[in-house]
Amino acid sequence: MNDDAVIATNDDASECKRNAVQLGYWKDNYISHLIKHGKRRAPEINRGYYARVKGVEKVIHKFLQRVGDKAQIINLGSGYDTLYWRLMDENISIANFIEIDFPSVTARKCYLIKRNKHLLEKVYTQDGEVKLSATDMHAGSYHCLGVDLRNTAELEEKLQQAECDYNAPTLFIAECVLVYIENNCVDRLMKFIAGKFPNALFVNYEMCNMNDTFGDVMMENLRARGCNLAGIASCKNLETQQQNRFGNNNWSGSKAWDMVNVYYSFPAGEREKIERIEFLDEQELLIQLFQHYCICIGWMGDTFDGLFIEDA
Ligand SMILES: C[S@@+](CC[C@H](N)C(=O)[O-])C[C@H]1O[C@@H](n2cnc3c(N)ncnc32)[C@H](O)[C@@H]1O
Repeated sequence: MNDDAVIATNDDASECKRNAVQLGYWKDNYISHLIKHGKRRAPEINRGYYARVKGVEKVIHKFLQRVGDKAQIINLGSGYDTLYWRLMDENISIANFIEIDFPSVTARKCYLIKRNKHLLEKVYTQDGEVKLSATDMHAGSYHCLGVDLRNTAELEEKLQQAECDYNAPTLFIAECVLVYIENNCVDRLMKFIAGKFPNALFVNYEMCNMNDTFGDVMMENLRARGCNLAGIASCKNLETQQQNRFGNNNWSGSKAWDMVNVYYSFPAGEREKIERIEFLDEQELLIQLFQHYCICIGWMGDTFDGLFIEDA
């Protein structure tokens, strides 16, 4: 597998997010400190990113409402995600916040945080101690760790260094990540999490319904960039998402929605506001795009049973 091409997907996602933020789709005061330029994309792509970011955010907020300040968040394949900083701006306190990505991505992120006062001031602990290595950062409750998610032994070691509390209510986030990992490695990762975290919620955003012409074109575009979608077999439909990611890997339960459902579960006023940002002449294309991505959640224990995005 070509890890460099997978790593480059972080730049692409960050540039697209920066562009959408610049256009006013949502607020993020930090993305521009992590990625220099935005990438101009078609209006349907920007709306797709809006639905992705807001959909995942809705699950995060439901999780936080349920568990309060005992919350632990572990963001897998976090790239340049700015969630930690956005939550800090909302005065939401998180007991432990851990970001994980390939070492070359976290090394760059740690360097950027260290050099930027807006990013650094939010991770400073009261005693001002920030522990840094070439690829990792430990700063109070914020941790950024360089690990290949295919290596669960190293993952466990790194989680230990981040003072991970296995019994805390823990939210795992994987936003467009698992599709780049071979299915046997995802199985190992998901079983590892299920075995260690009795009180966990997992939110997974990735492709679905890939068994049609539109799916073929999406795959071709990614493959043309040298990116092997090693986990694509689990993205056949919503059932394979639930079964392959959670059902087969000892999770207590799961639920999945395609992004059409997610988008139309947002309040009408919220949708109308962002639909005014850019004119869309091909509604059909947006719907097709939404049909090919989903949010799938899985849970361990009964704390998160019934924590759903409302069906449209
Ligand atoms: C499409 S980007 C998404 C980044 C971020 N989650 C977001 O949505 O903005 C995929 C991320 O997954 C990371 N990733 C993929 N496979 C990985 C692995 N085996 N170990 C660690 N990180 C991985 C990549 O380096 C990249 O940062």
